[in-house]
Amino acid sequence: MTEERARWGSRVGLILAMAGNAVGLGNFLRFPVQATENGGGTFMIPYFIAFLLLGIPLMWIEWGVGRHGGLRGHGSVPGMFQTLWKNPVAKYMGVLGLFMPLVVLIYYCYIESWTLAWTFFSIKGSLHGLSEQGMRQFLTNYQDLQAPEMGWWVPFAFYFVTIAVNFGVVLKGLSGGIEKLAKIGMPILFIFAAILVVRVLTLHPQTVTLANGTTATSSPAAGLNFMYLPDWAKLKSPSVWLAAAGQIFFTLSVGMGSLQAYASYLRKEDDLTLSGIATAATNETAEVVLGGSLAIPAVVAFFGVAGAVAIAKGGAYDLGFVAMPLVFNKLPGGALIAMAAGVMWFGLLFFAGITSSVSMATPTTSFLQENFGFTRKKSVLAVAGVAVAIGLLHIFFYQWGFLSEWDYWAGTFGLVILAMMETVLFVWVLGPNPWRWRQVWSADNRMWNELHDGAAWRIPNFYRFIMTYITPLFLVVMMVAWGYKDAWPTLMMHGIPADEHVTRWWSRGVMLLILAGLMLLTRIAWRRREAQGEEAA
Ligand code: TRP
Repeated sequence: MTEERARWGSRVGLILAMAGNAVGLGNFLRFPVQATENGGGTFMIPYFIAFLLLGIPLMWIEWGVGRHGGLRGHGSVPGMFQTLWKNPVAKYMGVLGLFMPLVVLIYYCYIESWTLAWTFFSIKGSLHGLSEQGMRQFLTNYQDLQAPEMGWWVPFAFYFVTIAVNFGVVLKGLSGGIEKLAKIGMPILFIFAAILVVRVLTLHPQTVTLANGTTATSSPAAGLNFMYLPDWAKLKSPSVWLAAAGQIFFTLSVGMGSLQAYASYLRKEDDLTLSGIATAATNETAEVVLGGSLAIPAVVAFFGVAGAVAIAKGGAYDLGFVAMPLVFNKLPGGALIAMAAGVMWFGLLFFAGITSSVSMATPTTSFLQENFGFTRKKSVLAVAGVAVAIGLLHIFFYQWGFLSEWDYWAGTFGLVILAMMETVLFVWVLGPNPWRWRQVWSADNRMWNELHDGAAWRIPNFYRFIMTYITPLFLVVMMVAWGYKDAWPTLMMHGIPADEHVTRWWSRGVMLLILAGLMLLTRIAWRRREAQGEEAA
């Protein structure tokens, strides 16, 4: 608390770090699968509506919440909420903003370590010449820790390297570590993605063998057509709307606590409006333009629409780790081209992943530093230790759905709850009473004014209305519909094979323990603050 707060080095660096936070595996693996499964072209309608009414407003709200808290010495959500609302429960509500980034960090690093492993396998040529069956077997062997071709310890080795690089970067600090990584990683990611997009879209029509043995012609254009083929009936399905809003949340990293942590290092006179929208726009470019033109068109070109649908059903990992290397093996040019494409694809996934995962480590490390007087080094080591200890459970129990549970409860469901709380606190508590229509539009709407401190651009006025009424309404509807349609059946494990139930309950138990632990730490932290005679705010 007594130390001078760290600062971002430059505006470009800040935006790259924020965009690095948002651009992640979600853009290249999750988005194409969500779009294909939820109506293709028509998915883009609820997707853009959710972007305008949820994504953009929440982006600004989170930058605002983060800067507001940071100016008062708080780098994580419990303290930020406490500065917005003096009620003692505020800090406990904010614990979600420590919990979700930590939980997602733990499993995300494991997936990230696969991208590093597959980059290495591409260089080594291990994926060359594998059949579809062989490629899938290669992935399952790795996940099940019984890869005869490489030794059971290999997944652990890649995991430890991934963790070491992540925490090494965090240890180097804000501008010396995180910002530098973004300045190197983001351009590389965009260049690799652009090269791959050009290669994919310029593929000649291919002859593909269908499941029934006949052949047909397919092309990348067929993939784009398929991905964006409108299916108007889907627009009436609530689950498509929920999927679209869920994708907006995940891909922009809103509702989690990590954007707020980054924004806490802003000064009062730093711009937030234009930078926020620039971050969102960069993420959407990476997602729709690059992510949308890579995996699905490439896979459709070589496997036809039916083949791509079958692969997408296997999930985001099959698309990225099975189908894409198969595509690379078929590219004209032989082994060298297959290697180059593999390195670019998995390399770009690795950079997309690591610029996100370092952001997930930020809230807990600054929480320990600010509240328990830990040095940066000590808090980074503590978080790394917890991440590794629990991460190992994911490696051991992956095949029984341990990771899926975390991905659902923290990575999909929890976000909406945190988003709802921060919207109410920032827009309705810091800002004016929403029932007083005139105050919302008045010149002393404090929420609006804080967003515009140092602003390089004025947000169009109708966003006052959207942020005060539409965003909260959208969130409530989502929470209710989602709770009813999705969360309840998921909680009861409908459709989950019986042999996974025990592990999945353990998995939930571990999550609850983490949540309880963070609540306890928050309680101790505020006790200490009070004992030190500081005002609890
Ligand atoms: N937005 C990232 C992606 O698209 C995921 C992500 C970034 C995230 N920061 C987060 C998830 C913090 C949870 C918590 O992959």
